[in-house]
Amino acid sequence: MSKKILVITGSPRANGNSNKLAKALVKGAEAAGASVCMMDACSLDMDGCHGDGNCHKKGFCGLKDDGMKLHEKMCWADVLVLTTPVYWKSFSSQIKKVVDRLYPYASPKGRDLCTVKESCLIATANNPNPAAFGPIREEFELVNALLKFECSGLLLANGLGGPDAVNEHPEYTAEAVKLGMILAGADEEKSDFQAWLKTVV
Ligand SMILES: Cc1cc2nc3c(=O)[nH]c(=O)nc-3n(C[C@H](O)[C@H](O)[C@H](O)COP(=O)(O)O)c2cc1C
Repeated sequence: MSKKILVITGSPRANGNSNKLAKALVKGAEAAGASVCMMDACSLDMDGCHGDGNCHKKGFCGLKDDGMKLHEKMCWADVLVLTTPVYWKSFSSQIKKVVDRLYPYASPKGRDLCTVKESCLIATANNPNPAAFGPIREEFELVNALLKFECSGLLLANGLGGPDAVNEHPEYTAEAVKLGMILAGADEEKSDFQAWLKTVV
């Protein structure tokens, strides 16, 4: 059965680096037969977590906003991909809100409703030093540990300042396409996979 992948983008720059890499991942995933749903955190009309704990009684959040769309997709997808620019060493505020609204799935009831078992992170940063990703990696690991998601991929692309900087780094785009194919279950050892990869990047 084809994998279902939920990709949530989190940059206010619609054509920025992280969104371009997200689109490349989707291209790879769809080519390998996955069903993909893309959601942009910036256009979700969704409040942050209220911390009222109601979700742990019901398994889902009681707020009547676009968090309901998020919940619907969290009960559909096998894999969750978060994509974000690094802001102050962390997630963008738009993605942070999504992460906070995943809190219901840390409870046994929520865990039963949520179909996501795997996760993946794409993060872009201006800093040329990959150490810039230390804190965001740590946060992502914490999310996975609490929500019992298995991390299936990380693409940490550094040295990207302007919104088109990623265009100068075809290796990041190639990595994103490949990651999409791997998340979809493609066998990266196969020669036709390698041949196809060369044609799209
Ligand atoms: C508010 C803000 C905070 C940022 N903080 C960092 C940071 O802590 N480390 C870093 O390397 N880059 C930082 N950047 C740069 C972005 O992470 C970088 O340009 C990224 O590639 C933008 O991705 P996008 O084009 O998808 O929006 C920051 C940018 C903004 C606007």
